[in-house]
Amino acid sequence: MKEKTIALLTKQTNLSKKEIEKLLEVPPSPELGDYAFPCFLLSKKLKQNPNQIASNVVGKIKKSKEFEKIEARGPYINFFINRRGLAEKTLGKIQKEKGKYGSAKLSSDKVMIEFSQPNTHKAFHVGHVRGTSLGESISRILELAGNKVVRANYSGDTGMHIAKWLWCYKKYHSKAKLKDDESWIAGIYVDAIKKLKENLDLQEEVDEVNRQLESRSNKELNELWKKTRTASIKSWEKIYKELNTKFDVHYFESEVEKPAKLLAKELVKKKIAKISEGATVVDFKDFNAENLGVFLLLRKDGTVLYGGKDMSLAERKFKEFKLDKSYYIIGREQDLYFQQVFKTFELMKSKAAGKSFHIMLSEVRLPTGKMSSRSGENILYSDFKNELVDYAKIQIKKRHKTNEKELSRRALAIAIASMKYAMLKQDANRTIIFNKEEAMKFEGNTGPYLLYTYARARNILKKAKKTFSKKVTAKKIKDIEKILLSKLSSFPDIVARSYAELAPSLIANYAYQLAKTFNEFYHSQQVINSQEEDFRLSIVEAFSQVLKNSLNLLGIETLEEM
Ligand code: ARG
Repeated sequence: MKEKTIALLTKQTNLSKKEIEKLLEVPPSPELGDYAFPCFLLSKKLKQNPNQIASNVVGKIKKSKEFEKIEARGPYINFFINRRGLAEKTLGKIQKEKGKYGSAKLSSDKVMIEFSQPNTHKAFHVGHVRGTSLGESISRILELAGNKVVRANYSGDTGMHIAKWLWCYKKYHSKAKLKDDESWIAGIYVDAIKKLKENLDLQEEVDEVNRQLESRSNKELNELWKKTRTASIKSWEKIYKELNTKFDVHYFESEVEKPAKLLAKELVKKKIAKISEGATVVDFKDFNAENLGVFLLLRKDGTVLYGGKDMSLAERKFKEFKLDKSYYIIGREQDLYFQQVFKTFELMKSKAAGKSFHIMLSEVRLPTGKMSSRSGENILYSDFKNELVDYAKIQIKKRHKTNEKELSRRALAIAIASMKYAMLKQDANRTIIFNKEEAMKFEGNTGPYLLYTYARARNILKKAKKTFSKKVTAKKIKDIEKILLSKLSSFPDIVARSYAELAPSLIANYAYQLAKTFNEFYHSQQVINSQEEDFRLSIVEAFSQVLKNSLNLLGIETLEEM
């Protein structure tokens, strides 16, 4: 409807679409219509009285079935949309398209999204939950817009942090049975850091473990590395299942080390990289891009650095999946680093050049500071989830009698919704100061509030116990009904915007506004046994469908009952 209003105004004035869009207002009260256009800019341009212009423009606009009324009121043009038309169009479309409402064929690209990226032998904390939730949601938004999405994960499974873990386990915990439990795994790492801090001389032992690990010379150590690496990977499987994410491919740093060495040598041959103080580097000074500094590929001793690995990883991604685009969801502190990576793609004329993008993710911090898997100063996913689940169980028991299995299922769904929504409602590039009490809340702008509202709508439909006429039978459509319908009708626009900006937060905030509007409707209008029962039931049904679609795009599962 907004589009239609803008179109009408573009035709009848000599302002551009952009100018009109900027000026168009939503009036504070329904008597002033659904949209209002102020004529002051026109008045300045035409050197005419704005009131005069308003009535002139209204006079020129022909009757349009989308509007009940278009009138001049002082210097404003007020548009009143045709409520019946709005209801018929919106409800009809949602009834027809159901789960597909909001979809559009905007692209048919094959797109890889790399996200989550936990390292083996370390904690999976709520910071990882943010990246995982964001990656899953962006994947779903891209899919709804027609793209084919490949979900990729990439984990560090070699290097010093692993050496520390293995050393600590062998020296202090070898009697403990290996567990594929992330909190146990994270604990060994924290213990290693603590022991090394207490006695600096111990680092020598770790260095030796690291050498043996790199050269793969110690068979027993290799075995332990493999086993514990598998334990980490297994612990994630459970987590990803709970978070409703499934990866199509999982890469590991250990797999790209060898090809990275070869690639670095090739780049030297092609004069893109050079040897500087023994190390292999790309010096952007040589390519008129001094601001990008120096990009490191190999260390002096020939071992591969993080950057070298990313070069060969990208080659592999594009070769294996014939990608049109490749996204990396990674911390914003790696901004410069990724500029270096992408510039190097260009220099080497890689298939990834011009097709790779960094989606910057800000941190989740604790009120006391940065989260760290070294010190254990963090909130582990599993610990936080368990707390949320326990809390949710208490809340459910207040309302329903259910068996233990159903209770656990619902509590988990609520816990996940609460966690994911807390991460997604915030723009990805804004830091989240993680406040546990805040994230545990079940009211206000939270995941559980949305789930409650959904279940409430479903409950009304269940209670109605009848199939209702889908025709718009209402005698008069009330203000609150119109507001709700117009929110429902804007969902496809919101999806399109969140696709253009790759911003799930737009969907999250839409879902909250929609649920709030629904609750206003529900509290002010009787549905069952009212004169307008059929019409209102069809609004409730459409609402529940659109809220479900929104939550689905956020990767949040709905519950029929809470
Ligand atoms: N595992 C890395 C880390 O924990 C993140 C990997 C990011 N992905 C990449 N292609 N560099 O910092």
